[in-house]
Amino acid sequence: MFRLQVIHGPNLNLLGLREPHLYGTQTLADINAALLHTATALGVSVDFFQSNSEGALVDCIQSTLNQKHGILINPGAYTHTSVALADAIAAVALPVVEVHLSNLYKRESFRHHSYIAPLAIGQISGFGADSYDLGLRALVQYLKKKSGSASPAVGAAR
Ligand code: DQA
Repeated sequence: MFRLQVIHGPNLNLLGLREPHLYGTQTLADINAALLHTATALGVSVDFFQSNSEGALVDCIQSTLNQKHGILINPGAYTHTSVALADAIAAVALPVVEVHLSNLYKRESFRHHSYIAPLAIGQISGFGADSYDLGLRALVQYLKKKSGSASPAVGAAR
């Protein structure tokens, strides 16, 4: 069974309250529950982590080494600023899908650059909470295709 880590960056703990015109009304708990439902249907396991702290997010990414098969991440504002998160992702060398609730490219120009995107399989941006669901499906599909449907050894390089 593929084991996946879902990571939510800063301020995503406030989903539901935070700028609902941009990020919708679902809470982080709602999103995680929906992801768990999809993961169960797809036959994969998921662990969830959220932090507002860059270092804690780096620690979480590092902890996936030899433990997980892939990462689904919404790095929040650190998308646009964090060399440290990008370095951690490069270090663990796992397949990563980057997701965003809002469409970054319709927004301020400082949101158009992602330090994570060049390291990701792909990025899904603009579908609200569905971005997470689509991202999870894309990650699992990628892993299944790559392994010929059996779970590979954890930590297999992308
Ligand atoms: C976000 C987009 C980021 O620019 C922003 O800083 C966030 C949320 C999104 O999901 O749309 O915190 O990652």
